[in-house]
Amino acid sequence: MTKVEVNGRAHDLHADPATPLLYVLRNELHLNGAKFGCGMGQCGACTVQLDGKPVFSCVTPLAACAGRKVRTVEGLGSAAKPGKLQAAFIEHQAAQCGYCIAGMIVRAQALLDKVPHPTDEQIRRHMEPNLCRCGTHHRILAAIRAAAGEPA
Ligand code: FES
Ligand code: FES
Repeated sequence: MTKVEVNGRAHDLHADPATPLLYVLRNELHLNGAKFGCGMGQCGACTVQLDGKPVFSCVTPLAACAGRKVRTVEGLGSAAKPGKLQAAFIEHQAAQCGYCIAGMIVRAQALLDKVPHPTDEQIRRHMEPNLCRCGTHHRILAAIRAAAGEPA
């Protein structure tokens, strides 16, 4: 059994400790925000926070999360009550297919929690591991700037 806190709630998880965190989140906890893209730590669609740091949950075994805090996009707000960053993504229409967006938002939130007013360069560098094949990058940057209280 692996004890993990997910979005502020304690869970005793019974999956094999080698199971990727992404599968545990989606299949056991029914948190379907994080997506399976490449499954190889190369696209960022599966990004969640582990103790406040963005990680690729497709290549993070459950065992690595024992006694730690996981935060997923569901922990940042809901459809009915979006968090500030989620609201900025909606306002700036920063999604096309949307497949990468949960991971983008989770990664961006990790930056804003540490650096409330990042420079463009900091945002670009921080967001680099997360890919969006629809080419929505300009809108994503605008949404992050807006959530930081900077001109979009
Ligand atoms: S699905 Fe995890 S990095 Fe692509
Ligand atoms: S919005 Fe389609 S991959 Fe990012």
